Amino acid sequence: MGSLPFTMSDLQLGSKAVQSSPTLLCTPLMGTTVDQMLIEMQRAKEISADVVEIRLDCLKNFNPRQDLEILIKQSPLPTLVTYRPSWEGGQYEGDETKRQDALRLAMQLGANYIDIELEVAHDFNSSISGSKPDNFKVIVSSHNFHNTPSAEAIANLVARIQASGADIVSIATTALDITDCARIFQIMVHSQVPIIGIVMGERGLISRLLSPKFGGYLTYGALEQGAISAPGQPTAKDLLDLYNFRLIRPDTKVYGIIGKPVGHSKSPLLFNASFKSVGLNAVYMHFLVDDVEKFFNTYSSIDFASGCSCTIPHKEVALKCMNEIDPIAKKIGAINNIVRRPDGTLMAYNTDYIGAISAIEDGLRELNGAVPAGTSPLSGKLFVVLGAGGAGKSLAYGGAQKGARVVVANRTFERAKELADKVGGQAMTLAEVEHFHPEEGMVLANTTSVGMKPNFDATPLAKHALKHYCLVFDAIYTPKDTRLLREARESGAVIVYGTEMLIRQGFEQYKNFTGLPAPEELFRQLMEKHA
Ligand code: ATR
Repeated sequence: MGSLPFTMSDLQLGSKAVQSSPTLLCTPLMGTTVDQMLIEMQRAKEISADVVEIRLDCLKNFNPRQDLEILIKQSPLPTLVTYRPSWEGGQYEGDETKRQDALRLAMQLGANYIDIELEVAHDFNSSISGSKPDNFKVIVSSHNFHNTPSAEAIANLVARIQASGADIVSIATTALDITDCARIFQIMVHSQVPIIGIVMGERGLISRLLSPKFGGYLTYGALEQGAISAPGQPTAKDLLDLYNFRLIRPDTKVYGIIGKPVGHSKSPLLFNASFKSVGLNAVYMHFLVDDVEKFFNTYSSIDFASGCSCTIPHKEVALKCMNEIDPIAKKIGAINNIVRRPDGTLMAYNTDYIGAISAIEDGLRELNGAVPAGTSPLSGKLFVVLGAGGAGKSLAYGGAQKGARVVVANRTFERAKELADKVGGQAMTLAEVEHFHPEEGMVLANTTSVGMKPNFDATPLAKHALKHYCLVFDAIYTPKDTRLLREARESGAVIVYGTEMLIRQGFEQYKNFTGLPAPEELFRQLMEKHA
């Protein structure tokens, strides 16, 4: 599978000759009866789809003249009629002539589009030449359920589809890697004819969401979760409400969260709502990434991968793709926030530690009142960090940077020692912390997973030890109110929830991405609603 040496930075967005009108949102109707499809088309209209795709191959007892008459005439939206045969991934297994007759009939009865497969398109188009109504267009489609060929091969395919007499070219390939989408984007941007470019599968999701950026004629959005006509299809509701599909334009900046898995992340919801609230021309999506280096090498333009959040398992691997790393993030050895600077280089941060430390500092301010400007309320405090994993490192380095006297306590002493030595602190085992109270008013941060759902009854430090702390933070946010925090509250300490770290690290990411302050209230409301 060869490919042209090309990256997304080669895309010249202004060069498209057929500058498209806005990309249409088409909802496939998958009902097995005409009545079901009639209900579905009303729902499609309600959720403000632009076109419905009548999938004739889904109908159980299809009576062409009678059913098409009803479906086309009663549709509240323009209709695209598809009668997909099994040899192209559909459900129709009958006679080919009858199938094409039904499509011709759909045209005569006023369908706005019909979709015909490249395999038979030449003959089909010859059969209707001269009899095509105004406002009727033939989409000639080609589906590849195995992979996404090289850019040359796709270009050749487009030429063949065009030569078959297509009004609209439709290509659907399959993503084996998220970077496969780049080849389809390249073809779409340079296409001289209206084109639908879809990369199927989970790794192809961005091709569906970003159709408007690359001038796609249409994209498909399912009526509901699971009611999809091809792998990887998002719901129309997600396209519209989650990804702000109608606001995406060729010059929209693309941000996202890279991870594997990543579909569960709520970050797109937070960032897209925030971008929209201030009218920022930007979109934030889920990037299901297998190979971080390949991802950044492929999507390397200023407006594509303008910024990324980074989650498991890429927080460490991503380090080696960066041009510059925030010094503390470098020490921690993990990044979660990547910004592409105007010169194209990548700068990385770790906003986890900033989020946690700032929440702890605010908690201390609440307790002790203001401290002199430029001084951290953590400065001089005895700061006990439980755990020496990724989160433990973030808290220990963050605390040390603020001038705290750091103690690292961990189940495995060697890990505690290693981290404590790096931050100039003291190491001990978890068992030792129970009897450690050289002074009162210490600060405690739990970064172990002890107490995390479903182990609600577990706690990393016995209640009797908590009375020596003035503030207790728990990085765990499921549940929000851990046993540790409950007992700390009962012991009179100020408590800081793990959700605060989560929210505040998001504020920092937003600031780094946009150079603007984060809409904090909106972030909090959305987190509350969707947590
Ligand atoms: P993270 O990146 O979230 O910090 P991690 O790197 O896997 O996750 O680290 C998990 C931390 O929780 C470690 O400090 C681990 O202690 P060990 O280094 O001894 O493994 C701690 N941890 C996990 N389960 C624990 C348990 N049941 N009791 C005590 N500590 C535990």
